[in-house]
Amino acid sequence: MLEIHSLSKEFNKGTPDAQIALDQFAMTIEDGEFVTLLGGNGSGKSTLFNLIAGSLFPDSGTILLEGQDVTFLPEHRRALLVGRVFQNPLTGTAPNMTIEENLAIAYMRGTGRSLLHRTTKQDRAFFREQLSTLGLGLENRMNTRIGLLSGGQRQAITLLMATMVKPKLLLLDEHTAALDPQSATRVTELTERIVSEGQITTIMVTHSIATALQTGNRLMLLDRGQIAMDLQGEARRTITRQELLDCYAR
Ligand SMILES: Nc1ncnc2c1ncn2[C@@H]1O[C@H](COP(=O)(O)OP(=O)(O)OP(=O)(O)O)[C@@H](O)[C@H]1O
Ligand SMILES: [Mg+2]
Repeated sequence: MLEIHSLSKEFNKGTPDAQIALDQFAMTIEDGEFVTLLGGNGSGKSTLFNLIAGSLFPDSGTILLEGQDVTFLPEHRRALLVGRVFQNPLTGTAPNMTIEENLAIAYMRGTGRSLLHRTTKQDRAFFREQLSTLGLGLENRMNTRIGLLSGGQRQAITLLMATMVKPKLLLLDEHTAALDPQSATRVTELTERIVSEGQITTIMVTHSIATALQTGNRLMLLDRGQIAMDLQGEARRTITRQELLDCYAR
């Protein structure tokens, strides 16, 4: 379970460039929930993810993951708990390393093993099996450098890296936005499958209202650093695209 209480973050405080990104933000997400998060540009979505993942620290408020206060836990110590996929396929993988080496790093990070651990035959078989679940034939290209892959292939691998060792929480920040429509659809389907098979608690940022309505089981809309809408069940099923659009404009 993720619990966020009264989280605030202001950038460039006390200067003419001051920006309040999150304003007394609060949310509770139960285990196994799959939340889609909408919100205009600059509404605070990525800042929220940065605070949850530990890339940034808040001015005030608390973040509890599985009851543990992680608000000021260093980012590398949260890597065991939080998996993350970014918008840019170039982020999240080491381009000059092979598919196998990237998976090995993610596996070590996820299991808390030393980086000095050498990849065993067993590890390799596990990576191959995991890659084959993507259905992209990448299990036969384990020695290919990640930098040579297409954006869609990279996002699929980054998704695998973020979930290979089940995280307590998966954060997806517009992770299909840079992909062509076909690859985006494939990565979205892959996401739904991985999340549902692993029952992974997930927050997915998207700018597509259709995707937000079709994916997951709860929908939130962020506006000026606060939750403006939180829909589940019947309310989520019956809301129209236009009603959601109107909320952006308020
Ligand atoms: N490192 C930073 N330094 C200064 N201001 C920042 C920084 N990061 C974010 N902001 C500001 O905080 C606000 C929220 O930004 P954030 O990136 O969280 O928005 P977002 O909802 O992810 O937007 P988008 O949909 O465009 O990705 C914006 O006003 C942004 O300019
Ligand atoms: Mg963003």
